[in-house]
Amino acid sequence: MPNRPLSQSINLAGASLSWRATGDPSLSPVLLLHGFPLTGQMWAQQEAVLRENYRVITPDLRGYGESTLGDWPDESPTLARYADDVGFTLEMAGIKQALPVVGFSMGGYIALELLRRHPQLVSALALIDSRVVADDDAGRAGRLKMADKAAEWGSARIAGMMRPKLLASDAPEAAVKATLTQIEYADPAAIAASQRAMAARPDSTGLIRALSVPLLAVAGEHDEISTPAEMRGFAELAPRGEFHQIDGAGHMAPVEAPGAVNAVLTDWLARVAEPTPT
Ligand code: MLT
Repeated sequence: MPNRPLSQSINLAGASLSWRATGDPSLSPVLLLHGFPLTGQMWAQQEAVLRENYRVITPDLRGYGESTLGDWPDESPTLARYADDVGFTLEMAGIKQALPVVGFSMGGYIALELLRRHPQLVSALALIDSRVVADDDAGRAGRLKMADKAAEWGSARIAGMMRPKLLASDAPEAAVKATLTQIEYADPAAIAASQRAMAARPDSTGLIRALSVPLLAVAGEHDEISTPAEMRGFAELAPRGEFHQIDGAGHMAPVEAPGAVNAVLTDWLARVAEPTPT
C-alpha cells in the first residue's frame, strides 16, 4: 500500500474527527468517503494517483481509523450526523468551493445525505459500489441484529462474516488482507452506530432523478451488495448519469482493482472537476 500523509484532526461534539489531505493545496479538491466498517486507508491507491492532479481529502468517518466516535446525541444514530461531520471537516480543511464527492458504499449513502443537507458542497457525485434505495425489512433487521450483537461478537468475527459479500472469491490476497485488517480494528461501538444509521436511511431515488450535478456509478462485476444491474438502473435515472462496470472485481472494487477504478475516476474527474485556478 502507498504511504499516506499524516492526518489532521479537529474536535466536534466530543469526537475527534481526522482527515488526510494530499496533493498540492493549490489543486482543485476532491473528497473520498470510505465504506463500512473501514477507514480512509481504503483509498490509498486512489490517493496515490489522484494527488497528481487534485487536492485529495480523505476523512476517517466518526468512530473509524483515527477518528473517535464521541457522544451521539440522544436520538438514534443517523447518516445526517456523518454528513454534517464531513461538512465541518471540509470547512476546517479550508475547502471553500463545491467539489466532486466520491462515496464508496456507506460513503455513498453519506454522500447522498451531504447532497440533501449541504447541496452547495457537491459539484459532482460518484457512487462506487453503493446504493440509492433504502433497506428492505430483512436488510434492516440484519443490520439491527449486528448492531445489538457487535460488542459480543467482536470485530474479528464480524470481518469473517462480511468477507464473502465484500470480496470476489479470487480477489488479490493484498486486497483481502487490507480490507479485513481494517474491519478487525474497527470499534464495535462504531459498527453498531453505523448499522443503526444505515438501517434508518431514506430512499434517495427521487434525489437521483432530480440530480442537477453529474453522477458516476461504478460497480464491481461480482458485487452482491450493490449489483451492476442495480447501479446501472439508477445511473440511467439521473439526468447526467453514467455507469461503468469493473470486470472481475467484487464489492471492494477500489481495493481489488485499483487500476481500473482509477482509470474511470480519472477520466470522469477530468470532465467534471473544476479546473485548478491558474
Ligand atoms: C459498505 O461497504 O459500506 C457496506 O457494505 C454498506 C452496506 O452495508 O450497505
